[in-house]
Amino acid sequence: MIYNSFEDTGLLRVLQFLKAHDSEYLSGQDLSDVLHISRVAVWKHIKKIQTLGYTVESKQKEGYKLTKKTDLLLPWEVISELETKILGQQAYYYESVESTQNEALKIANESPDEGIIIIAEKQTSGKGRSGRKWISPKGGIFFSIILHPKFDISKITLFPIASSLALSTAIEKTCKITTELKWPNDLTIKGKKLAGMLVDASFESNKIENLVLGVGINFEINSKEVEKILKKTPNFYGVVSLSEQKKKIKPKKLLQSFLVELEKIYEELNNNQTKKIISKWTERSSTIGKRIEVDTQQGKVKGEALKIDEDGGLIVKEGEKITKIFAGDIIHLTK
Ligand code: BTN
Repeated sequence: MIYNSFEDTGLLRVLQFLKAHDSEYLSGQDLSDVLHISRVAVWKHIKKIQTLGYTVESKQKEGYKLTKKTDLLLPWEVISELETKILGQQAYYYESVESTQNEALKIANESPDEGIIIIAEKQTSGKGRSGRKWISPKGGIFFSIILHPKFDISKITLFPIASSLALSTAIEKTCKITTELKWPNDLTIKGKKLAGMLVDASFESNKIENLVLGVGINFEINSKEVEKILKKTPNFYGVVSLSEQKKKIKPKKLLQSFLVELEKIYEELNNNQTKKIISKWTERSSTIGKRIEVDTQQGKVKGEALKIDEDGGLIVKEGEKITKIFAGDIIHLTK
């Protein structure tokens, strides 16, 4: 099933009415009269609303009352009280989809709008970096955002790096959890992977036309189960989930906070204010200062990770030799 944030459906009207009157019971007849839909339709919508994670209590002779909101990232919930100008103001939600990234790429080709977000409860063929799979069971947070950046094509490596900083900031603000940033785009806790970012882009006369940022967060997944699946794959270094940190976290608050932080950083990038982003990323980085190893197309590079350049490239020093890396999976050789 697919839902979006902009269509006025019977289900949404019933839900909005229940939300607006959540201190009282509403009879099926009243809902039917006010909303001009049959009592059977009211009943069907209430059943569906319950399957979407809301608690609607029903009492004989009194009717229905909404007593608890959902934790699902339904599109009308995500846009409600969202403090961004553009990002996330149009949302799609899939109960199950192959990959939000692929859906976003299709939508980007059809719509010039910026900031559209595509969210999924689970993905059957989630994509990771370097052609890997992203294991996407229920309990994770998976979404893609469509952008049409003004920034120069040379900043394309910096963009997902900056986005990982936005997520780290949002997690700190909403969950009071500190995360480290592993070059290029990974978020980690105690050296294990918590979240990853993926960018797909199309270009037109040396300019970025569409950019789709995909984000996967191990929110409330069974990390041991995912580790079992991934153990023998390249670049595996352990999996961790936010729920294991034993803090009360509302997924909607986290996603909304990320969208606010991402919008700030996106504006900074569009205005070429890269220095601030790089210095904040470096403060949170677990890579800078470590000995690392990376497989590049030109062969293996080993050395000390010195810094990232203003285009996001990683500067590595081995003896007198300085190498700049733009892509690849690094291994931290020192703790
Ligand atoms: C990585 O390998 O670290 C990047 C993972 C990105 C996964 C996200 S989940 C939402 C979006 N849809 C996908 O198919 N992949 C990205």
